[in-house]
Amino acid sequence: MQIGIIGLGFVGLSFASVLGSKGYPVIGVDTNPEKIKMISNNKAPFFEPKLDLFLKNSLSKSLIISTNTKDTLKKSDIIFLTIGTPKSKDGYIDLSMLKKAAKDIGNSLKNITQKPIIVIKSTVIPGTTDEIQKIIEKTSGKKNGNGFSILTNPEFLREGSAINDTLKPHLVVIGGSEKNSMEKLKKFYEKLYGKKIKIILTNSQTAEMIKYANNSFLATKISFINQISSLCQNIAGTNVDDIAEAIGIDPRIGSAFLKAGPGYGGSCLPKDLSTMIKFSSKIGAEPILLEAVEKINENQIEKIFQIINKRLGKLKNKQIGILGLSFKEDSDDIRESRSIKLIKILLKEKCKIKVHDPKAITNTKLIFKNKIIYSNSISTIIDKADCIVIMTPWKEYTKLVSNDFKNMKKKLVIDTRRIFSKKKMNIEYIALGIGDN
Ligand code: UGA
Repeated sequence: MQIGIIGLGFVGLSFASVLGSKGYPVIGVDTNPEKIKMISNNKAPFFEPKLDLFLKNSLSKSLIISTNTKDTLKKSDIIFLTIGTPKSKDGYIDLSMLKKAAKDIGNSLKNITQKPIIVIKSTVIPGTTDEIQKIIEKTSGKKNGNGFSILTNPEFLREGSAINDTLKPHLVVIGGSEKNSMEKLKKFYEKLYGKKIKIILTNSQTAEMIKYANNSFLATKISFINQISSLCQNIAGTNVDDIAEAIGIDPRIGSAFLKAGPGYGGSCLPKDLSTMIKFSSKIGAEPILLEAVEKINENQIEKIFQIINKRLGKLKNKQIGILGLSFKEDSDDIRESRSIKLIKILLKEKCKIKVHDPKAITNTKLIFKNKIIYSNSISTIIDKADCIVIMTPWKEYTKLVSNDFKNMKKKLVIDTRRIFSKKKMNIEYIALGIGDN
């Protein structure tokens, strides 16, 4: 069975690399020539653990890289659309790239006899698959279930563990109305993951909504624990991690996604929450809980700023070192990163900012240019700083000990992820969510 994957971002490239490394015949398509050049040279255009290895392996086996949608469509039995659906300026989902691809697919379908299964893997708002179906039907003159078929198959992988998640997903969701194609896609996944893989078959609107419900719930868990963390901050002796551990043992709650911190960032949770809130209003529903989740997330950064402000007093010309720029560890992605938000606030207060990150400095330079100082050495950031803020829990930061901070001007460390033991830090150490500050 020949597979086509259109859009080689995190989801598309991880999926293509895993399938190719298992010997599946795959064509990966992207329209960005620079991306194609890098990928063809065994290099992913972004940092993702294990991806380069899998990419190299798959290119040496059965992955072909192309810019030709029409040719891919002609050859493929199943075409996955993994095209970006970014946040538009008004905070809603931008479906323009997906719609453009649908037109291209429709035009290409006109002249071919093959009947491919087109699978939308991109995150899309309920009703989008129907819309895309209509675009393809209009441009191709063919009907769903006849000249092609269209399904929805949301993806749940996380950045930083994209390969592991693609190798072993917890669930596959298939939405659609065309039973034969749904069965074919189900068989494809059963072959890939084994018969025991949990597969949910439903209609496309429900499949689309499952993805939003999933991300909304994850964001809710994070904002919930951040709310508890803020309460702990004001209750002497309390520790949010002990609370998270205890409530996480209750099987009705579960321990995942209860790590308090500076709030959720990245290209997914913030975008999906804001899209869901806007979508709810459009359909006449009141997204009370989701609005609260978003508000708590936004407030986290303000809370961190208030701690810095309270401890340092006048902020002008104070030297602040930021450890961690990416929205999470094991990633170079700074989209909606809380660090970037904090730096913007501190720059407004005329602080002097020095930053370190093992992977995300190149991306951060594109935003702040020469307004801040970048270093690959943690000790350069620490030396002479008035305050160090730990924003991303990279492994290298966990190895620091109290003595590593000895050359700071004012020995103040604010740890938003609680990576150190407070007992071992004989400097002024404020851990977000530990209530004895
Ligand atoms: C998220 C979902 O977890 C994936 O299931 C989904 O497929 C993906 O969005 C998507 O829609 O494409 P991702 O954005 O890669 O994945 O990263 P997460 O691991 O969800 O982390 C998001 C943010 O929440 C990060 O800033 C992280 O530091 C923060 N977080 C996560 C916490 O503050 N506490 C936690 O307990 C977990």
